[in-house]
Amino acid sequence: MIYDAEARLWLLSTPSSSYAVRLGPDDAPYNAHWGRPLTIEQARTLPPDREELPAEGGERFGAASLQIRYGDAVRGVEWRHLGHDIHGEPGGGQLAIRMADRHYPLEITLHYRVRPGSDAVERWTRLRNAGTEPITILRCDSAAWTAPPREDYRMTHVVGDWGREFQLRRGPVPEAETVLTSRRGHSGHQVNPWLMIDAGDAAEDHGEVWSAALAWSGSWRMTLGRGQDGRAGWTGGFGHEGLTWRLGPGEELETPVFTGMYAPDGFGGTSRRWHDHIRRHVLPAPDRVRPVIYNSWEATEFDISETQQMELAERAAGVGVELFVMDDAWFGGRTGEHAGLGDWWPNPDRFPNGLTPLIDHVKRLGMRFGIWVEPESVNPDSDLHRAHPEWVLHQPNRARTEMREQLLLDFSRSDVAEWAHGWLDDLLTRNDISFLKWDMNRPFTEAGDDVWIPYIRNVYAVMDRLRADHPDLLIEGCASGGGRADLGMLARTDQIWTSDNTDALQRVAIQHGYTQIYPACTMGAWVTDSPNRISARLSPVRYRFHVAMAGALGIGGDLLTWSEGDLRWAAMLTEQYKQIRPIVHGGRMYRLGDCAVQYTRGPETVVFVWQPTALRRTTSPVLLKALDPDGLYRDEETGALHHGAVLMSHGLPRLLPFDTMSELVRLTQVAHS
Ligand code: DGJ
Repeated sequence: MIYDAEARLWLLSTPSSSYAVRLGPDDAPYNAHWGRPLTIEQARTLPPDREELPAEGGERFGAASLQIRYGDAVRGVEWRHLGHDIHGEPGGGQLAIRMADRHYPLEITLHYRVRPGSDAVERWTRLRNAGTEPITILRCDSAAWTAPPREDYRMTHVVGDWGREFQLRRGPVPEAETVLTSRRGHSGHQVNPWLMIDAGDAAEDHGEVWSAALAWSGSWRMTLGRGQDGRAGWTGGFGHEGLTWRLGPGEELETPVFTGMYAPDGFGGTSRRWHDHIRRHVLPAPDRVRPVIYNSWEATEFDISETQQMELAERAAGVGVELFVMDDAWFGGRTGEHAGLGDWWPNPDRFPNGLTPLIDHVKRLGMRFGIWVEPESVNPDSDLHRAHPEWVLHQPNRARTEMREQLLLDFSRSDVAEWAHGWLDDLLTRNDISFLKWDMNRPFTEAGDDVWIPYIRNVYAVMDRLRADHPDLLIEGCASGGGRADLGMLARTDQIWTSDNTDALQRVAIQHGYTQIYPACTMGAWVTDSPNRISARLSPVRYRFHVAMAGALGIGGDLLTWSEGDLRWAAMLTEQYKQIRPIVHGGRMYRLGDCAVQYTRGPETVVFVWQPTALRRTTSPVLLKALDPDGLYRDEETGALHHGAVLMSHGLPRLLPFDTMSELVRLTQVAHS
């Protein structure tokens, strides 16, 4: 991190990129460069380009990152530079560029952070009302990102819905404005809060890609603009349009982190950079082994009992599961969607002696125990709601919208957050529970302006406190599947429940989209029954395992109905997964098309190949990547030896004549010839 006082220029350097900010003659901060590494001498030759945080006002007519209204109804910002602070760390550092409005007592700090070994530039904004009158904040984005001038641009992102999250889309950046947003109070199934831009010339293994992902689990908005001059850039942050904040005298508003990533080596290089960054700098416990879990939801839904859970646990232990998770319907009067949410004590009919007998049984079987919770929700038919109807999100003169027969608790209230922390802490303290599946099954409705931000902050705070006080606890983030998968959630969870769609064939596309940014170790993936509950598709157990083994493996089928043969396969494949888990979770991921993936860690490589349906069947070989061309690789199944150069140019034969066939190939480099 270097400051050049004469040029009023800051240069941030990462291993493969540089980021330069420069003050303009009007004192406003401008981006000067985001791309390949530059020296300070080189950066000095670049003029201020696009604004780092365009404010409403003057000649600016694009989407504003900052929209401010002062007490006298005047709007906008005229910039004044106050100073800066640089805190160096080995291999990284933080920069704060301190600004203010020229006429009004609003201080605006632009924060930047780079971390050792990462090409990410983390940015966020802090506003402070240094005056005596309230200021209205109509919009405060974390950052605006500028792609350099290019002939044309493409955008890459993921879209979807419940059961079809993370569907990858790539296409031209339209002229005018494109808005990606969630107005739901969670980051959403419909579009995930990240975006990649390239000049239309990037491919999996080459070309420049600029991307950014927002660390926020509530509603959000990114606006990608392409103006008359053809240039593309985007601004983003928390909150959707129309939300406002009142900043009282002395008060501050700090945005979530918006992380940008430049990659010179295509979409594959972009994904690997994100995986490395998230594993090293975002996840709370990156090196923790993600256990093979069993989850009872698809097997039992709401119809659960102690005996049945014990029987499932016995089967799960028999196939090598390491952690048994009891899902919904263990508490209060929760025998269906209609009742009990909020009453977080074991259902006395189902667990007459509490959770201890089941937990002891699970532990005797050699597994750890986990449990499902949905702390933010309440059924109107619950003791909690009868005692505290005022605790739910609601507004005077408005109906309380029920979805899935439930309401949301107003987590922005400190008494609600305290209550949630209290019972969760008690549950974890009194019982030997190693894993929480934290679900959230409906979006916000009837939420006032003051709710959206503190609600999410309080969810974060409860999770952070639980982790601090129960250091071995694992948390799985879930919102009806992958509705709340983002860097904010990943900063306090160990994995995400990727989707309620467990059809292995459809899951290949979901996983393809999820791993564009998020690493495989966080991608919860269950093997469930055949036929599948959602698609009714039949698929062999081996295929279902091969798909789930490319993430954080779990088993979610009704093991009590599985054949002896399938149980034997399950045990064998679970054991194989445990051997390859360090490579899948800690290695580098290379996409080999959209139906094959390679993970490489040191001398070890694992390749998964999944045959899509007959309509898309291909027989071309699977070409491996990033091997040592002079290396010799042993196939751990057959013992055959392959040359690295041959594997990369002629590949592995694809011997998959039928739908839902799959291969798992394990290679170890045994020599460098
Ligand atoms: C939605 C989750 O995605 C499912 O896995 C399951 O936990 C249900 N909620 C339980 O209600």
